[in-house]
Amino acid sequence: MWISNAGYEKAMPSIAESLKKLQTDYIDLLLIHQPFGDYYGTYRAMEEAYKADKVRAIGVSNFYADRFLDLAHFVEIKPMVNQMETHVFHQQGDLQELMKEYDSKLMSWGPFAEGKNDYFNNPTLKKVGERYGKSAAQVALRYLLQRDIILIPKSVRKERMEQNMNIFDFELTADDMTEIARLDTKGTLFFSHNDPGLVKMLLEVKI
Ligand SMILES: NC(=O)c1ccc[n+]([C@@H]2O[C@H](COP(=O)([O-])OP(=O)(O)OC[C@H]3O[C@@H](n4cnc5c(N)ncnc54)[C@H](OP(=O)(O)O)[C@@H]3O)[C@@H](O)[C@H]2O)c1
Repeated sequence: MWISNAGYEKAMPSIAESLKKLQTDYIDLLLIHQPFGDYYGTYRAMEEAYKADKVRAIGVSNFYADRFLDLAHFVEIKPMVNQMETHVFHQQGDLQELMKEYDSKLMSWGPFAEGKNDYFNNPTLKKVGERYGKSAAQVALRYLLQRDIILIPKSVRKERMEQNMNIFDFELTADDMTEIARLDTKGTLFFSHNDPGLVKMLLEVKI
């Protein structure tokens, strides 16, 4: 749900339109994309759609701890997912811990930080991968998976899609996990939703 459809009155027809465009009776997961505008109204519409079996799961995206808590505290159906920038350089441990209280799962967008920081040549990820015959990308995904994070890596190449799915036949040890945990800088590699410049830009995007 984009900001321009925020609020109960706009969100209700927007959900119906999405179902129509997708040519489906239900949506697996519906998220509020950004924590701006009347997202409380949007969320009420999503709760109704959930109760009417039009949506299997509802949640939010880019809701930092303060916004997440504010919403999760007051709504009837707690957000099942918060989709956030999450990768080895920005691991979101504190947010994930806080979300557990609401049984809410962290979903990673940018699990490879879109290749920033020379991600696929990271020495730690490569060194760990050599022990299992896996690439840096696979080690990074496996690390997030073992932390119970939902993954949606993006690739337009078939062989990389296959590689990214081939992470269920090995397990990182506690020592591997500790080593990769040290890569965390606890900061964004993209942009901050606390930056008024970004907020202004997002408010002007029409979808
Ligand atoms: N909620 C939000 O605000 C938000 C924000 C951003 C993104 N997202 C979503 O998050 C999902 C993840 O996409 P993302 O764009 O953030 O990027 P990402 O998954 O972190 O990285 C994608 C990049 O990694 C490359 N790549 C993928 N697998 C690889 C591999 N095994 N080895 C080497 N390179 C590899 C891809 O290149 P090739 O395609 O050439 O393979 C692409 O350049 C998407 O569904 C996106 O829509 C959500």
